[in-house]
Amino acid sequence: MKPTIAAFPATRLRRTRRTPAIRALVQETTLSPADFIWPVFVRDGIGMVEPIHSMPGVNRLSVDKVVEAAKDAFALGIPAICLFPYTDPSLKTEDCAEAWNPENLSNRATRAIKAAVPEMAIMTDVALDPYNINGHDGFVENGEIVNDRTVEALVKQALSQADAGADIIGPSDMMDGRIGALRAGLEGAGHQNVMLLSYAAKYASAFYGPFRDAVGASGALKGDKKTYQQDPGNSDEAMRLIHRDLTEGADMVMVKPGMPYLDICRRAKEMFGAPTFAYQVSGEYAMLAGAGERGWVDAEKVMLESLMSFKRAGCDGVLTYFAPAAAKLLNG
Ligand code: PBG
Repeated sequence: MKPTIAAFPATRLRRTRRTPAIRALVQETTLSPADFIWPVFVRDGIGMVEPIHSMPGVNRLSVDKVVEAAKDAFALGIPAICLFPYTDPSLKTEDCAEAWNPENLSNRATRAIKAAVPEMAIMTDVALDPYNINGHDGFVENGEIVNDRTVEALVKQALSQADAGADIIGPSDMMDGRIGALRAGLEGAGHQNVMLLSYAAKYASAFYGPFRDAVGASGALKGDKKTYQQDPGNSDEAMRLIHRDLTEGADMVMVKPGMPYLDICRRAKEMFGAPTFAYQVSGEYAMLAGAGERGWVDAEKVMLESLMSFKRAGCDGVLTYFAPAAAKLLNG
């Protein structure tokens, strides 16, 4: 649709920008704490708050501290938290069995948060990388990341998370056929209300670096993830992946990373109209928070502007490490 517009001076577009009241009235996109899913890193121990050097302001928290943080976040209006475990290196194996241990860190944190803040939605991560001796999201056989055997393990992992009380399962592994297998597994186990937020369009990105530090996978990772994560040059492929995942039973879809892929967010929302999320990933956070720390940019302003960009691009919400800080600002 071409906007109808009279010629100058009949039209002066600055008229609707003149005062804060008028600007508020004509603002097309809004941002609220209800738009956020807050990713947090969980570690072992009690009373632990351990800074992550490549993510200024982000800490690994022990389960008791995660519970406190979840309570505070929910009180700020943040509806969902997403758990990423920092797994002790001694628990990383080739068969990744810790991934479906009912007593693993992620499952213990899920139960503790559910007990303390039952209304808050809990999202958990499905992929083998925190548990894998070689840092990959799938099993490695003769140097190849194998698909179908990995999918069977992912189903076991997801069922242990659903049993612990997870509301949203987030498969971030990029194996083929996993959404259908996970959906069937959940239905079969009586978890018909557990949602799947598929990391559908996940790119092989250098912006995940600080996250791999945070979960302790950087040192372990051998090679790259290009045989399963997408080529940054591809956009049609992202639409095929999202379409495929929605037909297999995904409730919501994600584009990841966020800011360098806003075109993908826009296309996805326009093409499918499904609940669409962007993940403002660790490297994006590090750039903004790091530059803010040095006074090179205004930290608060770039934070809110970057989050607004996801909404403007068509996303319904954002996974962001800024969630509590942004919510505090938005709440005034
Ligand atoms: C891996 C996973 C990654 C992230 C979430 N899940 C990293 C990767 O694919 O190597 C990245 C999140 C971030 O960078 O903030 N299953």
